[in-house]
Amino acid sequence: MKSSCRKVLSCFLLFSSIVLPYRISHATPEHSRGDASSIAFATLGRPRYAFDIYSLTISDPSKETRLTDGNSINFNGYFASLSALPFLKNHSPPSVNLVYVTERNGSASIYLDTLHVSPSLGLESRSLLGVSVQFNRVQIPLVGDDKFSGEVSMKDRPSLVGSSLVYVSTHENPRKPRASWAAVYLTQLTNGSTLRLTPKGVADFSPAVSPSGVWTAVASYGEAGWHGDVQELCTDIYVFSTLDGSNRMKVIEHGGWPTWADDSTLYFHRRCDDGWWSVFRAVLTAKKGRFHPKSTVVERLTPPGLHAFTPAASVANKNFIAVATRRAGSQYRHIELFDVVSSEFIELTRTISPNSHHFNPFISPDSALVGYHKCRGTTSDGRTNELYLESVNSPLPSISLFRIGGSFPSFSPDGKKIAYVNSPGVYVMNSDGSGARVVSNLSAFSTAWDWKRKGVVYTSVGPTFASETSKVDIISINVDDDDLSYKTLTTGGENNAFPSASPDGKWVVFRSGRSGYKNLYIMDALDGEKVALHRLTEGPWSDTMCNWSPDGDWIAFASDREDPGSGSFELYKIHPNGRGLQKLIQSGSGGRANHPWFSPDGKYIAFTSDYAGVSAEPISNPHHYQPYGDLFVIKSDGSGIRRLTHNSYEDGTPTWGPKSSAVCNVELSDSLSLCSFEDCHWLSISTMKSLGSSNRQCAEI
Ligand SMILES: *[C@@H]1O[C@H](CO)[C@@H](O)[C@H](O)[C@H]1NC(C)=O
Ligand SMILES: *[C@@H]1O[C@H](CO)[C@@H](O)[C@H](O)[C@H]1NC(C)=O
Ligand SMILES: *[C@@H]1O[C@H](CO)[C@@H](O)[C@H](O)[C@H]1NC(C)=O
Repeated sequence: MKSSCRKVLSCFLLFSSIVLPYRISHATPEHSRGDASSIAFATLGRPRYAFDIYSLTISDPSKETRLTDGNSINFNGYFASLSALPFLKNHSPPSVNLVYVTERNGSASIYLDTLHVSPSLGLESRSLLGVSVQFNRVQIPLVGDDKFSGEVSMKDRPSLVGSSLVYVSTHENPRKPRASWAAVYLTQLTNGSTLRLTPKGVADFSPAVSPSGVWTAVASYGEAGWHGDVQELCTDIYVFSTLDGSNRMKVIEHGGWPTWADDSTLYFHRRCDDGWWSVFRAVLTAKKGRFHPKSTVVERLTPPGLHAFTPAASVANKNFIAVATRRAGSQYRHIELFDVVSSEFIELTRTISPNSHHFNPFISPDSALVGYHKCRGTTSDGRTNELYLESVNSPLPSISLFRIGGSFPSFSPDGKKIAYVNSPGVYVMNSDGSGARVVSNLSAFSTAWDWKRKGVVYTSVGPTFASETSKVDIISINVDDDDLSYKTLTTGGENNAFPSASPDGKWVVFRSGRSGYKNLYIMDALDGEKVALHRLTEGPWSDTMCNWSPDGDWIAFASDREDPGSGSFELYKIHPNGRGLQKLIQSGSGGRANHPWFSPDGKYIAFTSDYAGVSAEPISNPHHYQPYGDLFVIKSDGSGIRRLTHNSYEDGTPTWGPKSSAVCNVELSDSLSLCSFEDCHWLSISTMKSLGSSNRQCAEI
């Protein structure tokens, strides 16, 4: 592993005259008081994405060109027309204007790269004083790269109309649990003025601007809001005026990911009653500048037997569209063209990289290029940029946020080490990402350090998400011993998990299924339950994920006691003597709040929750079991909720420690597992037969 904090290289020439006159900033954060501290957390799959945007020439799709620069992850591209950029007028016309989302500065922002693709040079980079430089790239951050204004949000799905950018942003808090913060905005790039196009109280996903620029289509629940969907979002398609969001109307019942071929033809996807994701065409009729939803003609285009989704319309040549597919016999997601006249597919990426997932196609205005993103693997200069430890922008200046390449991290009491789980096994590393080593090969989950005995790490060994009777036991490992000796503290194997030690070093709280229900128990830290055990909570429900406060007075935990077995969890705290139970937070009705962890000063609690709903259509990402997962903090009395992370991934298992030394990104070096993340499990063709049908009708073929 490269633990040197390599600075991100600026591998482009920025013509000095091409600088946007205004930086866009939406919000002034409230600053939190208190000591500097660090939160480390896990994001399922994300450390291995290494996405770059690639393109193929539709007339000769044999050679792929990588368009983005290999820094961080780059995705959800859009080809802007050459005339769209009045502020670039004085320069020779570039071959490609690519607008895209990048996470290079610690949160998703939108960049524009103009690429001069010459036949002789292509897009190859050359080495200059050991630095790889692409001489033919001009790179301009458009929105969201606002590290210095303190704003943190997710930006997504950009389109350029003239010199205005239409995109999704999550910077406005709807102040309602389980409501998505995703809304569509229009930013005038010449002066930074920004207008919200989505009505207040509504979330919009997947915006697409019509070729004339007049209309924008989105996927939205309207007023109804999100109710916990994690596969297909059962959205409808709405259309409104791009200029100001006016004339908003629902034009298609049940659909997502709209794309326009012309100002009255929309393609979109929907999961049909037969279980297959399919692409549909809707022809809208307008009278006096308003659409008439009742006369919209909707037609299913792609047949059952394969999944086809995330369509991209082609404007100059309307005979085809691009789609992503999952075909029987393939574990991989590929980009194909679909001829809308002959109803034939033309496979594009399977011949080039059969064993990679390809996402979210888009077509250039002249219908010559199709773009998409996929994991880059190793670049020509040997970099992967798959990150093991990644600095993530934090909205609270006193808290540093790090994503780690494992799960269930826990800071040692001095903040110098992090224990974590990476299947299979338990690891310990220095908090700057160096010196990672395996301390147990047992299949484990959840980790916690002893406060007094240096180098003692608790973990639970056995399967996750298992029943009360599953064989899971808690062990303590001496991670500084040469022989890595360990002791088994629980022995009954009744799903004993989530250990957390008391600050005086005497006790460990954990959850156990020994009564037939998962409740909390406290045992002797040194020798385990055979020396001392008492029951902390009792009831026919699940209490779990407990964390002992640094002052020793409280144990925070998650529980489904209000609706046992429903999958809904709230956070509580209780004194170690079983008194003073308090509910801390509930994420709406049927929502989830899990994995609480006290701040080092005990005044705050970090946790993961669906409090901000989902931020993008889950099918546009690789697999996430819980795509709504984001991190939040509350005061330890449950008040003052603040959102920490903004993305469409599954963030979870936070740990909170003193300020750690890690300030920058650490690259993975184990190339064996390059690009090893999974496509949405629910797209698996082999499980299609057992799929329950969705509850809404698809139109006839
Ligand atoms: C964003 O990252 C680039 C490198 O990719 C760097 O040059 C730039 O300074 C960063 N911007 C901010 C605001 O940190
Ligand atoms: C920004 O530019 C747009 C278009 O030129 C104009 O309509 C708008 O009034 C300007 N806003 C500000 C704040 O200058
Ligand atoms: C884990 O397994 C590897 C490979 O078999 C071995 O080299 C290592 O010593 C084991 N580590 C522990 C802590 O058991």
